[in-house]
Amino acid sequence: MTTGNAFTGPDASSLYHDGSRLAARTSALHRAKTQGRPVADVIADLAADHLTAPRQAVIADIGCGRGTSGRVLAEAVQPRQLLAIDASPAMLAAARTRISAAQPPDAHTAVTYLRADFHHLPLLEASCDLAVAAFCLYHAPDPRPVIAEITRILTPGGAAILVTKSADSYRSLDHLVAAAGLDPHAAQRPSLYESAHGGNLADLTAPFLRIGRIEHEEHRFVFAGLDHVAAYLATTPKYTLPSAMAGDPDVIAAALRAAVPDEPVLATSTITYLTATRGDHA
Ligand SMILES: C[S@@+](CC[C@H](N)C(=O)[O-])C[C@H]1O[C@@H](n2cnc3c(N)ncnc32)[C@H](O)[C@@H]1O
Repeated sequence: MTTGNAFTGPDASSLYHDGSRLAARTSALHRAKTQGRPVADVIADLAADHLTAPRQAVIADIGCGRGTSGRVLAEAVQPRQLLAIDASPAMLAAARTRISAAQPPDAHTAVTYLRADFHHLPLLEASCDLAVAAFCLYHAPDPRPVIAEITRILTPGGAAILVTKSADSYRSLDHLVAAAGLDPHAAQRPSLYESAHGGNLADLTAPFLRIGRIEHEEHRFVFAGLDHVAAYLATTPKYTLPSAMAGDPDVIAAALRAAVPDEPVLATSTITYLTATRGDHA
C-alpha cells in the first residue's frame, strides 16, 4: 500500500505544472459548495482589519496560485504593492491574467509577480506589512521553516494570515472510493493536509509569530451525483487508482456507477484562518 503524501512528495510540483488540474478541482468544488464564505473575501476582510494604512501597505501573497486571493486583495484593499509569489510559472501566468483583468488602467496597486520557493523568498527582511499564505503550507513537508521565512519578511508588528483545511477534509469521499473498490485503502491514505491543517497550524506558528485570532469555518459540499464526484476525484492525487482511471472523470464515474448508487454525496472541509503578528523586536 502506498503511504506517501502526494502534496509533499517529490512530484508535488507536477500538480501545478499547468493550471488545468487546479481549475477542474476548484470548479467541481465550487459547483458543490452549499455553505462557507468565499475564502478570498474573508482574507481581504482580515487584511483590512490588520492594516493601519492599507493603501500604503506592501502585501505578499505567498503560494498565490491562480490569483484568487490576490485579485480580491488588489480590488478590496488596494495596497501600494502586491507581491504575487509562487513556485509555478503556470500559476503565476494565471494569476497575472486574473489580477490584471480586474485592475483598472489607473489602479493604485502595483502588482509584481515573483517565481520563488516559499522557503527562500527573494524579499528583504522586514519588507512586507502583511503576508498571506493560503492553502499552500501543506505543500511543505515541514512548514516551520516557511513560517520562519514569512516572519523574516514581515515588518515588526506586520501580520500574517495563514489559511488551511482540516485534516479530515472530504473524508466521506474516502469511504465512497473504498466502498466502490476504486482504492480499497482510500480511508487509510494520509490526509493531503497532514503537514499543515487546522489542528496543528497554531502549534506550527507559535514559535515564530504572536498568534492573534484563529477561526474555523465548516464548508459543506453536495456533489449532485457520481459524475460530479468523479469530476472532483479525477483532480485529487490522494488515491491510488487503476492507471486507466487516474485523471479520467468519465472512467471514474463509470466505475463508481457500477458499484454504488448514483445519488447526491455530502462532504465537508473545515477552513482555518489564523492571523498572527511579528513581535516588535523580532
Ligand atoms: C492550492 S494552490 C493555492 C493557491 C492560492 N493561495 C489560493 O488560495 O487559491 C497552492 C499553490 O502553492 C504553490 N506552491 C507549492 N509549493 C510551493 C513552494 N515550495 N513555494 C512556492 N509556492 C508553492 C503551488 O504552485 C500552488 O500555486
